[in-house]
Amino acid sequence: MKETILLIEDDRIMRISLEDALKGVGYDVMSFETGAAALNVFRNTSFDLAITDVRLPDMDGFDIVKEITDLNDSPVIMMTAYGTIKDAVEAMKLGAFDYITKPFALDEFMLLVSRALDMKKLREENIRLKKDLNRCYAAPNIVGESSGMKKVFSLIEKVSATDSTVLILGESGTGKELVATTIHYQSTRKDKPLIKINCAALPEGLVESELFGHERGAFTGAIKRRPGRFELAHGGTIFLDEIGDLPLQAQSKLLRVLQEKTIERVGGTGSIRVDVRLITATNKDLEEEVKAGRFREDLFYRLNVIPLNIPPLRERKEDIPSLLEVFMDKFRTRLSRKVRFSKEAGDLLLAYDYPGNVRELENIIERCVTLSTTDVINKNELPSLMIGDSSLKLGSLSLSDVAADAEKGHITRVLQTTQGNRTKAAELLGISRKNLWEKMHAYRIE
Ligand SMILES: Nc1ncnc2c1ncn2[C@@H]1O[C@H](COP(=O)(O)OP(=O)(O)OP(=O)(O)O)[C@@H](O)[C@H]1O
Ligand SMILES: [Mg+2]
Repeated sequence: MKETILLIEDDRIMRISLEDALKGVGYDVMSFETGAAALNVFRNTSFDLAITDVRLPDMDGFDIVKEITDLNDSPVIMMTAYGTIKDAVEAMKLGAFDYITKPFALDEFMLLVSRALDMKKLREENIRLKKDLNRCYAAPNIVGESSGMKKVFSLIEKVSATDSTVLILGESGTGKELVATTIHYQSTRKDKPLIKINCAALPEGLVESELFGHERGAFTGAIKRRPGRFELAHGGTIFLDEIGDLPLQAQSKLLRVLQEKTIERVGGTGSIRVDVRLITATNKDLEEEVKAGRFREDLFYRLNVIPLNIPPLRERKEDIPSLLEVFMDKFRTRLSRKVRFSKEAGDLLLAYDYPGNVRELENIIERCVTLSTTDVINKNELPSLMIGDSSLKLGSLSLSDVAADAEKGHITRVLQTTQGNRTKAAELLGISRKNLWEKMHAYRIE
């Protein structure tokens, strides 16, 4: 497809020579002698690039830039014989793509034209990709028919339209992250970033620099200035997962950010304005944490503006059939398998209590679909826990089950001796805090 260029230049010789050069490499060119003539056409025609002289007989080139950038996304190149920095700055401020000073070499001009057109193409592609992405993620598939989930859906609907701070509460695996994601993609911030951070998995000493960024030399190892996640989320949403695990010092900084809507980089002096919607989640009882002195009360009230409670799956078993369907579809497609559960197995799936909630259900389905050798998954292919202890024979436990069990026991004991202090426990176990958190999560150690 030929690209269309609008050329506005009052000098006849200049106009004709530029027009010829542009046509010579295959562009469609519409050229005009006055600003008024060009504006008339551009309001009714679409074009890919405008090139305009700054000084025209009837109007100022800057006015043309203003009109074009108001109504149109196409880049504008300014040409001027009065190549002052002031003109350049003014043109760029108004949204011009670039600026070229007369007299210029034709090569230089043509290069600028192709750069401007490339930029336009990239920008359009970017918009298209974002739209596609949104189509994939905009409405993450979140299902449920229970009255508990209906309440969740209606709250999601209500808060999506606002900028209110939301605190998502629920046991592990109930869908807290999914709900946070849904809120973001249903809000007006959906085209802006959604930044997710797991507060429990951040190394304790780096929490503040992760969240708020740091200046060069702020601490050993800060070789370069780095923006924090809050800055990266500007205009969008920040999701602080496991907020109950945020160290106290970072809690007071976060409180200040919420009050003042500005952040300060670690080691920085100035404050930076950020426009961010905050969503937090935890499976801890934050009120308990407040009583125990581990969580700031004032921060708790700030975060708890709109509490959104996701009930555990065992209290809404009527959601299991549709969840089963969603996950069966997902893994059947992903693994290109055509399997289903036997009647007996299906009944067990519907009756089970799922201490690990939806995530556990999802994992069970994935495992069954992956491991099944026939088209029907039988009762005895389900995890031994679901079938009941009576069938738990020595031979039915694999080595990895036994190892995992021992690991879980050991971590639990070490955590007891450190009175829940994870940094100390990680040290004793010889693993990182993040690794410890992942294991606690996997084994559901509270
Ligand atoms: N109502 C639902 N419909 C469809 N999928 C769901 C639903 N709830 C949860 N899931 C799926 O279950 C899995 C666990 O959900 P998610 O990670 O959001 O839970 P969580 O509460 O953040 O868990 P954790 O506390 O363990 O971090 C995800 O794969 C999610 O897509
Ligand atoms: Mg989560």
